[in-house]
Amino acid sequence: MTFTRRIPVMAAIVFGGMFISSQAAAEASRSAVLASTCFACHGTDGKSPGSIPSIAGYPAEIMEMQLRTFRDGTRASTVMDRHARGYTDEEIRMISAYLSKLN
Ligand code: HEC
Repeated sequence: MTFTRRIPVMAAIVFGGMFISSQAAAEASRSAVLASTCFACHGTDGKSPGSIPSIAGYPAEIMEMQLRTFRDGTRASTVMDRHARGYTDEEIRMISAYLSKLN
């Protein structure tokens, strides 16, 4: 009796856990898609072969600050201001966290 009453609780824990990890997986793939827009200019996986700076392994906090200052025009740029304007604060956070883990 006690066991059968526990089943819904156990199921809630198991399915709850699956829901949380699928959310995390969804966020991880969304971050990868968002960051992939950077690679056309900053090189494959953020490793630039040319004069545009590499962004792989860039510290997340500094990246967030850079993208915000490009977005609001505080930092002058040729293309980054326009590119950064396309992202919300949340997306900037996700992109920055993702790029900081690349090396
Ligand atoms: C169309 C090409 C292009 C795309 C796409 C692009 N960048 Fe840039 N990025 C540049 C150029 C060019 C610069 C040099 C500053 C300028 O003139 O805009 C730059 C500069 C930067 C810098 C400054 C680096 C430093 O150390 O001073 C950061 C950070 C940066 N980009 C991050 C990103 C991120 C993150 C993305 C994707 C969300 C991205 N960029 C997408 C072209 C691009």
